Amino acid sequence: MILQHADKLKGELTVPGDKSISHRAVMFGSLAKGTTRVTHFLQGADCLSTISCFQKMGIQIENTPDEIRIHGKGLYGLSAPTEVLDAGNSGTTTRLISGILAAQNFNVTLTGDASICKRPMKRIITPLSMMGAKITSRDKNDCAPLLIEGTSLKGIHYNSPVASAQVKSSVLLAGLYADGATSVTEPFLSRNHTELMLRAFGAKITSQNTTATICPDPDLCALEINVPGDISSAAYFIAAGLIVPNSEILIKNVGINPTRDGILKVALEMGGNIEIQNMRTDGGELTADLLVRSSSLHGVTIGGEIIPTLIDEIPMIAVMAAYAEGTTTIKDAAELKVKESDRIAIVSENLLKMGCDITPTDDGMIIKGGKPLHGAALNSYLDHRIAMSFAVAALLADGETEMKDAECVNISYPTFYQDLEDLIRK
Ligand code: S3P
Repeated sequence: MILQHADKLKGELTVPGDKSISHRAVMFGSLAKGTTRVTHFLQGADCLSTISCFQKMGIQIENTPDEIRIHGKGLYGLSAPTEVLDAGNSGTTTRLISGILAAQNFNVTLTGDASICKRPMKRIITPLSMMGAKITSRDKNDCAPLLIEGTSLKGIHYNSPVASAQVKSSVLLAGLYADGATSVTEPFLSRNHTELMLRAFGAKITSQNTTATICPDPDLCALEINVPGDISSAAYFIAAGLIVPNSEILIKNVGINPTRDGILKVALEMGGNIEIQNMRTDGGELTADLLVRSSSLHGVTIGGEIIPTLIDEIPMIAVMAAYAEGTTTIKDAAELKVKESDRIAIVSENLLKMGCDITPTDDGMIIKGGKPLHGAALNSYLDHRIAMSFAVAALLADGETEMKDAECVNISYPTFYQDLEDLIRK
């Protein structure tokens, strides 16, 4: 795909529903009793993978244009699938569902696409095995396909070496079925949608600092959930609105949960003009409208506890840094290497091709910004966040930028190119 240029971006948009929250709504709704209704659900390929896995385990899920209806059968209502469960490209599906599957009274094979079958699963196999789970990696490489034999589990206290909401959530979900309380402590607090939403469904779950604790065997009751717009999807328009001159964009109804709002903090620290309007809470999740105006940005240093709150936005932040004056240093972000692609390598490869001064490091990157970027032939490596970040980079680049496999945005934002085009044409 040839990517567009823009001399201004104007208008208003609503980004699709939050991916993390959409996944959890389907999973927890399936384990609750009664019909859970979900509006503004993300119709991206990842969340559709989660729906398909639960349908294969006997849960009726209606996907209508207005809402998703999940006819949950309670904690013990799943049935053995007759086929392999396929999580597609979705790490959240793979890791969270493993915690649930570990405790069922049936066995399953869980797999995914080529990227999923390379991503590390030891991080969940280790704590779930401590609980008594029987999980093996078919190819003995600690990756999917995973063979999961359902069994009884015991409660544990797990000190996670990584700040990962997928690891935390996997263990907490297994904890729903354990023989006693289960706690997870992480080095820094990762996104807490599982804790907020499970509590709303009726689970006995508490949080203190970076430890979350769940007690087993609650009665989960169906809910109505309105999913806020995904701040990870809004990030592309925040960045585009800041770097493209003469721009003003109002992004409505964005989830700004403090465990996800690092992009806002960094954009403001870089000198971004962003007004946070109409702040409110919807189903325990903080939301707001964001008014973004063109700004001259400068470099920053990012590391430590803010990293989990903006981990998926780092490709976009790197592009913003390329257009900002001065040096940006991103550190403590080695997790980027095990996302949908190795995002340290791929962001560096693509920015180098565009003429940026970027040095990849073991746990991040150093970007000397302020030089104009030029168009180039880029590769998304089928990573949705790479495709979208570089569609923003291309807006201001001299000459033509081409993106390979640009349609992978379907994973999290099927209407991305149309929404961008609408702002360019206004
Ligand atoms: C997610 C957690 C994060 C994030 C991913 C979604 C979730 O992954 O990168 O896109 O929904 O729990 P990690 O838990 O591996 O950091």
